[in-house]
Amino acid sequence: MTGKSGENIVPVPAKYVAEFEQLGFGMFVHFGLYSILGRGEWVRNIEKIPAEEYEPLAMQFCPGSMKQIVRVARSAGCRYVTLTARHHDGFSLYDTRGLDPDDPFDAVHGLAGRDLVAEFADACREEGIVPFFYHTTLDWHRKEFVDDFPKYLEYLEKSVRILCENYGKIGGFWFDGNWSRNDVDWHEDRLYKMIRSLQPEAMIINNTGLEARGRLGSGEIDAVTYERGRPDPIDRTGHKKYVSAEMCETLCDHWGKAACDIDFKSVRQLIEELCECRKVGANFLLNVGPDADGSVDAMQRATMECIGRWMSVYGKAIYNGRPFLRYTDKREFLLRDVFDPSKAYLFKFSPRCFVEVGPVSGGNELSLDRIPFRVRSVRWMDNGESLSFRQDGDILNISFTSFPYGTSYPVRVAEIGTEP
Ligand code: GLC
Repeated sequence: MTGKSGENIVPVPAKYVAEFEQLGFGMFVHFGLYSILGRGEWVRNIEKIPAEEYEPLAMQFCPGSMKQIVRVARSAGCRYVTLTARHHDGFSLYDTRGLDPDDPFDAVHGLAGRDLVAEFADACREEGIVPFFYHTTLDWHRKEFVDDFPKYLEYLEKSVRILCENYGKIGGFWFDGNWSRNDVDWHEDRLYKMIRSLQPEAMIINNTGLEARGRLGSGEIDAVTYERGRPDPIDRTGHKKYVSAEMCETLCDHWGKAACDIDFKSVRQLIEELCECRKVGANFLLNVGPDADGSVDAMQRATMECIGRWMSVYGKAIYNGRPFLRYTDKREFLLRDVFDPSKAYLFKFSPRCFVEVGPVSGGNELSLDRIPFRVRSVRWMDNGESLSFRQDGDILNISFTSFPYGTSYPVRVAEIGTEP
């Protein structure tokens, strides 16, 4: 904390928020009845499919084990998974337990006959992954969403209560849809109060959508969202509470499975995005859209696995690194290890389209200013090779070496050892 007046104080994260930042990289999963149609999660709305046609899909939806999905997250090095427990179509993957006895629109009462959220939460815990629940607030299924909004809010609260009470300790909630109605009072505080009483350490996140990235809604929010957009650095000076940040992005263009969407992002682009998020201390939530049977197609699986191979080499810098030094004139940046103050991580974006077989063309020296410690060592995290450096006051010059022929990663990280 700095300064005399309260205005200059920089808040510190609550323990559960710090733990969220420690998770660093998560997998988003859009999975529901729309996965059967394979044309994205908005298909019902965009194609104006009548309820009588869309909702009977519940009698066709019978995925295999939820472990398939969780294992993909594990392979990528994700430490949490945010699953669409209910999306805008109103279909719940969990047992709605008499929420509306006349309208049990959920997996248990459909062909699946199983509580998929329970299965998912168990699978997560088996794999050492923290389960998070996405819950829509916009609802195309419930008539009262349009006709009797206060009644809808009661329904929403009861629904979220079910998720709070029946699946053990969860990482948090990811709400989505308040952006769909600006004409109403969502009374979010009531919902959040209920969550705090039942799941005091759950993160509360509410997506502000494409038009309002990074906007803080209620004071209860624990992390702001950046939907498909790179987060800006957050200056928290004078803020009442430390609010974290999370960017979500999807592997192709859609969130739910879209069989005709082949516009996949490259492994390079996704790793760069992950690094850019960590540069400013944000988490990165990367989406897969499984098929209706719960399997993840080869392209999505392979992409996640490749990211996992990068994470298995440099993951420590992603999980433990916190914002430290950014530069306006260069892309490289440094993170500092939250647990070990004698370590910092230097992120170096590799040039693309050729294999470096000698010193990097265009200069293999990098000069970094504002270095506040004495440097002892600089070492690539991938092969442990020591890099030569010179330090002059707060200026650090490092000579980079190339990858050995046969190796290439889009971003390379060097661990910097400092004097205590
Ligand atoms: C948007 C979409 C929704 C998707 C979400 C993911 O809000 O409405 O379909 O779940 O983005 O960020």
